[in-house]
Amino acid sequence: MGSTSFLLSLLLISQQLRSSNVSVHSSSTFTGNVTMSPHAPKSPVSRIPPRPPSPSPPPPPATMSPAPAPSSPSNSTAPAPSSPSNSTAQAPEVSTGTTNSSAAPEPGVSDTSSNMTEFNVLEYGALGDGVTNDTQAFADAWKAACAVDYAYVHAPVGYSFLVYPTTFKGPCLLNMTFKVDGTVLAPPETSVWNETSVKDHWLEFSKVSMIIQGTGTIDGQGQNWWAESCKTNSSNACKDGPTAIVFNACTNVTVKYVTILNSQQMHLAFEKSVGIMVNSINISAPGDSPNTDGIHLQNATSVTIKNSFIGTGDDCVSIQNGSSSVTIKNITCGPGHGISVGGLGKKNTSATVSNIVVEDVVFTNSTNGVRIKSWQGSSGTASTFTYQNLVMNNVKNPILIDQYYCDSASSGSCPNFTSNVQISDITFKNITGTSATKVAVKLACSETVACTGITLQDIDLVRTSGSDATSFCSDAYGVSADTVIPSSCLLTSS
Ligand SMILES: *[C@@H]1O[C@H](CO)[C@@H](O)[C@H](O)[C@H]1NC(C)=O
Ligand SMILES: *[C@@H]1O[C@H](CO)[C@@H](O)[C@H](O)[C@H]1NC(C)=O
Ligand SMILES: *[C@@H]1O[C@H](CO)[C@@H](O)[C@H](O)[C@H]1NC(C)=O
Ligand SMILES: *[C@@H]1O[C@H](CO)[C@@H](O)[C@H](O)[C@H]1NC(C)=O
Ligand SMILES: *[C@@H]1O[C@H](CO)[C@@H](O)[C@H](O)[C@H]1NC(C)=O
Ligand SMILES: *[C@@H]1O[C@H](CO)[C@@H](O)[C@H](O)[C@H]1NC(C)=O
Ligand SMILES: *[C@@H]1O[C@H](CO)[C@@H](O)[C@H](O)[C@H]1NC(C)=O
Ligand SMILES: *[C@@H]1O[C@H](CO)[C@@H](O)[C@H](O)[C@H]1NC(C)=O
Ligand SMILES: *[C@@H]1O[C@H](CO)[C@@H](O)[C@H](O)[C@H]1NC(C)=O
Ligand SMILES: *[C@@H]1O[C@H](CO)[C@@H](O)[C@H](O)[C@H]1NC(C)=O
Ligand SMILES: *[C@@H]1O[C@H](CO)[C@@H](O)[C@H](O)[C@H]1NC(C)=O
Ligand SMILES: *[C@@H]1O[C@H](CO)[C@@H](O)[C@H](O)[C@H]1NC(C)=O
Repeated sequence: MGSTSFLLSLLLISQQLRSSNVSVHSSSTFTGNVTMSPHAPKSPVSRIPPRPPSPSPPPPPATMSPAPAPSSPSNSTAPAPSSPSNSTAQAPEVSTGTTNSSAAPEPGVSDTSSNMTEFNVLEYGALGDGVTNDTQAFADAWKAACAVDYAYVHAPVGYSFLVYPTTFKGPCLLNMTFKVDGTVLAPPETSVWNETSVKDHWLEFSKVSMIIQGTGTIDGQGQNWWAESCKTNSSNACKDGPTAIVFNACTNVTVKYVTILNSQQMHLAFEKSVGIMVNSINISAPGDSPNTDGIHLQNATSVTIKNSFIGTGDDCVSIQNGSSSVTIKNITCGPGHGISVGGLGKKNTSATVSNIVVEDVVFTNSTNGVRIKSWQGSSGTASTFTYQNLVMNNVKNPILIDQYYCDSASSGSCPNFTSNVQISDITFKNITGTSATKVAVKLACSETVACTGITLQDIDLVRTSGSDATSFCSDAYGVSADTVIPSSCLLTSS
């Protein structure tokens, strides 16, 4: 046994060496250095040491199944604070430990293997009362967990943690996990983001391979942002709000089971990242909340998004420049603006998007179903997309290519240019349901860079009410197969 603990010590030391460039900082305060002033955990009773002790044995493995009893001083069974959205208030049961115990396995709980090491934010001083600033506890728990293989930062059920804008930096050791079973709340005041360094995000994960999971809720409390938006009231100045959760320059990220609510602006963004799996999550915000995209991909490759519910005030999924090999499968979308590629090539830029599959998606009451949009003056390519097995329920533009995109912030008037993104090899197959407007299929391609290789196959779209639906094509070349209703208007090239 002596040699075992010696080996453990060696292992820990080597882990700390390997992770010596790990840093965690809250964007609002920490200056990117590892040496933060230590914040004594407010909980004296600590089954898990606040820091991995240098050469001593690692923290005890967590007991996963029953939610760990909250440590005594954090007596807060307090529900969420007076937040504008009551939906976030957690049921104040804390120590019941009976959550879904017997019947069907609860994925968020059963999925973290029992030999992972827990770093519970309560043990790092978080109160979880929804009003106290728990940011430091999350930063400290992250820093500690990041330096241990198979570790998870745990935000336990029954608590609401108020966390200010923070960047959680990697790299971390193997299978770093952030397990959210309680509620994580953003500060509702927009002035928190006045400082420029934190403008673009609430929770950012940078240069890390990791998993977010749990049965809890991450709530952006974005209501003040929406009220101050120029899209809500045109007398407001237009300004960008933060994205609730951003993965930046990450490899191999999984996000599963959690619920993400009411973001300030976009909910979940992957930028310059590779190897992304999003599975069985819920994203929700009111249909009239401005710019609240569900999932945003920018320079993101090898992405799977599946088995999820997304309903917001903007795109359910937005696929932007530099994204490729993206599969979106078994999604319920709506309200919102549908699943969109683009707007590509804003301000005369070049864009490349390829190999997109969207299948088994139900769209309900959304303003678009599947949409590709590019700005005039753009360049680049958008190619090899397959849209199949889609159901449209009262969707305004079920199938839409718009190479004349011009957003409302441009007051609907954009200069005419000849160049555009080249759109090719786009298949629309087995798409049925109802269109809320007369034009169910609109393929408005560039006069100078026509769309080529479009396939329409097995399409059956009727109007929700009123006369038959129609299709509109300009400069759209391709073929139709099987039954296509409304009938195809594609041009057949030589
Ligand atoms: C919240 O705590 C973090 C970490 O200690 C700190 O940087 C930030 O300034 C705090 N914010 C407020 C508003 O107290
Ligand atoms: C980090 O701290 C060390 C010493 O504690 C200091 O020399 C260094 O400049 C700090 N780095 C940053 C980025 O603050
Ligand atoms: C919780 O707080 C109440 C009232 O503030 C107190 O009576 C009770 O003993 C506390 N419970 C724990 C476990 O600290
Ligand atoms: C939300 O809370 C407010 C104030 O506490 C209350 O007036 C309103 O009825 C609540 N709404 C719901 C849906 O519970
Ligand atoms: C337990 O953790 C070790 C690494 O610490 C890992 O190799 C092993 O596969 C894990 N076992 C299970 C069942 O996950
Ligand atoms: C660790 O991550 C790898 C790769 O993502 C995965 O195959 C493995 O199951 C994970 N192990 C545990 C214990 O979660
Ligand atoms: C934040 O900036 C807005 C204007 O952008 C200003 O009205 C407000 O007073 C600022 N708040 C703080 C706390 O600096
Ligand atoms: C990411 O996952 C792939 C496939 O499992 C693996 O080959 C690669 O080494 C992983 N990269 C990192 C940085 O974890
Ligand atoms: C996307 O990646 C390309 C090439 O790696 C880079 O030039 C571009 O700046 C990136 N764009 C964004 C928005 O990240
Ligand atoms: C589709 O996703 C839903 C919601 O997560 C899930 O219940 C269902 O089993 C999934 N269907 C398939 C075929 O995976
Ligand atoms: C869709 O809109 C119709 C008509 O407004 C409404 O009756 C229905 O409840 C909506 N469906 C969903 C799922 O929101
Ligand atoms: C762009 O061209 C169209 C006709 O092709 C014309 O109706 C429109 O006014 C032009 N827009 C601008 C801003 O010049």
